[in-house]
Amino acid sequence: MANIVIIGAQWGDEGKGKIVDMLSAESQVIERFQGGANAGHTIKAGGRETVLHLLPSGILWPDALCLIGNGVVLDPEVFLEEIDALQAEGIDASPRRLAVSAKAHLILPYHKALDKAREAKRAGSKIGTTGRGIGPCYEDKAARIGLRAGDLARPDLVRAKIRHALLEKNILLTGLYKFDAIDADRTADALLALAPRLLPYITDTDALVHKAIQENKAILFEGAQGVHLDIDHGTYPFVTSSNTVSAGACCGTGVAPSAISEVIGVAKAYTTRVGSGPFPTELNDDTGSYLQAQGHEFGATTGRPRRCGWLDAVILRESVRLNGIDRLALTKLDVLQNLPQLKICVAYELDGKRMDYPPQGEGELAAVKPVYETFPGFEDDISGCRKYGDLPEEARAYIERIEELTGVPAGYISVGPGRDQTIIRQVA
Ligand code: IMP
Repeated sequence: MANIVIIGAQWGDEGKGKIVDMLSAESQVIERFQGGANAGHTIKAGGRETVLHLLPSGILWPDALCLIGNGVVLDPEVFLEEIDALQAEGIDASPRRLAVSAKAHLILPYHKALDKAREAKRAGSKIGTTGRGIGPCYEDKAARIGLRAGDLARPDLVRAKIRHALLEKNILLTGLYKFDAIDADRTADALLALAPRLLPYITDTDALVHKAIQENKAILFEGAQGVHLDIDHGTYPFVTSSNTVSAGACCGTGVAPSAISEVIGVAKAYTTRVGSGPFPTELNDDTGSYLQAQGHEFGATTGRPRRCGWLDAVILRESVRLNGIDRLALTKLDVLQNLPQLKICVAYELDGKRMDYPPQGEGELAAVKPVYETFPGFEDDISGCRKYGDLPEEARAYIERIEELTGVPAGYISVGPGRDQTIIRQVA
């Protein structure tokens, strides 16, 4: 069966939740492999809207096994809150069908405090993080002082690790950032109080996913954020702290590259970005405001307005190269309806030179000039289109140019938030 990695091909918020939810209908296992509660995956189904920050989007399908891999940084409170919210809606989020890797690192209050303290201190060059403690938790992982989910079974180890971490962090928090110190014993008590609820979920997810592979089950690996927020390949330093590229699915779950059969890159039909950082096609004008209003472009995690701009085929081309994207899922095409003209950035210019791929040096992307092609817009309401041929000719021309520029077919075209508002194309 197909083992599919789904990643965001832009700067996050591409509508991955909807595509994962749709493909979950045909999958037996859905596993998240990186990021944490900084994600915001919105799913509209059965007349209700569900926003998930941490749990895999497949949780809404009752028969799917949902896993949180070792590459995720898990906020225990958010995890339990999401479970409670789902259970209140009658959705089973019990350990029968939801499991967390014992190797996943835990986000603690001091990670969130440090995230906020650093941002407050970064005069003029804020990353615009979600404040969810993501960066500081991955730092502890790399520094080899992190607390992992499996440690919860050993209260003495939890206490010792928290005390050790806070020795250093309290100096930073109080001395440098002028924040309050965090009490180690109280932090450990609060976490250990949650342990009886958390422990039944914590297990060897590597074994579960490998068993699923051996049994020829269909597995979806659900990415969070987007390629250009990748810690290595993104617009550093305005990035998140994990590998958001498709290869992250292997490191973040313990599955080998040879087990992956397909990569789907989800891209909005235009571009958005939350937080700081270069954005060559950003529109600080009425068209940008129109896209923001029509697309309800406000962050699902922080509520911040998303910056909006034209589709950038240069960053998409790089996403295809970095991820081995086989098919694109193009989302929110309906948001473009009624615009008189559409533009696609087909290349950049930097110091008089034309570039087909983004420059690699820090800060250089901020200096490029987008080269645009202009297309006629479409006025028809496309939200009811269910077949590719139903789309107006102008919309098809726009899609086909994106396919030409990126070299990959658009296998899914989303024309509204509903599960059924998706055109599925048979592509080679
Ligand atoms: P962090 O992941 O909270 O450290 O934030 C780092 C950068 O990634 C900031 O610019 C955030 O706005 C951005 N970011 C993090 N998660 C998401 C997401 O799910 N969608 C879009 N942007 C995100």
